[in-house]
Amino acid sequence: MLDSGVGGLTVAKEIFRQLPAESVVYFGDTAHMPYGPRSPDQVRGFVYEIIDFLETQEIKALIIACNAATAAGLDYYAARVDIPLLGVIEPAVRTALKQTRTGKVGVIGTTGTIRSGAYEHAFRRLAPEVQLSSRACPLFVLIVENGLIESPEAEGVTREYLGPLLEEGIDTLILGCTHYPLMSSVIQKVIGPGIKLISSAEETAREARMILSRKNLLCRENTKPRHRFFVSGPAKPFENLAATLLGSSPKTYQVILPW
Ligand code: DGL
Repeated sequence: MLDSGVGGLTVAKEIFRQLPAESVVYFGDTAHMPYGPRSPDQVRGFVYEIIDFLETQEIKALIIACNAATAAGLDYYAARVDIPLLGVIEPAVRTALKQTRTGKVGVIGTTGTIRSGAYEHAFRRLAPEVQLSSRACPLFVLIVENGLIESPEAEGVTREYLGPLLEEGIDTLILGCTHYPLMSSVIQKVIGPGIKLISSAEETAREARMILSRKNLLCRENTKPRHRFFVSGPAKPFENLAATLLGSSPKTYQVILPW
């Protein structure tokens, strides 16, 4: 699995829960984080490097646990690997479709994800009748990566970003960035209990199970997993943040990417 930082751990956590026998190799590209403001070309360049590295770890499937990287070109990555590949955008859309009653859905994400129109595209394909409102929330990733989730500034920024979406009358809000579930309590506080928050983690893990099972790639149930964590920046800050999310600090190794 890969992400620009700790965000993808929200998906990893679901994989640990739903697929407890599987070993996860996680790569957080913290040296290049955030991906959100970067061009699709540049993000794809980073992802290619990470894929090359992950392939040295003998992975059997790849999850792009990052909306910005998924939006930058899932098809491009698919053309480079010959193992099952899964992004996080369609799983989020499918989950939102199960939840919405009014057909008015909001999506928030990084600038790159929102600008790409990847969510509009997925909804057009899967449910063209849905009315989608989107909003980029670029500061959220920095709030998460700098451990500021509980700060008063985080709430102020959240109100600022989400006000316009609330006026659209949405009943479902997709967290279109894998970092955002880490902010779900402040987001839910701001939008109120009537709007359902959707993260792609659960459905992505469910689809991963389905794909692995279909390809006969699932580990036997009593297999003891061996997870491995890598980052392109310093390991310590990642370990500390990951500890708050996973409950224990995962031993993490720094890998210097060619870029
Ligand atoms: N967690 C990422 C996403 O899902 C990227 C955040 C970033 O690096 O901007 O979009």
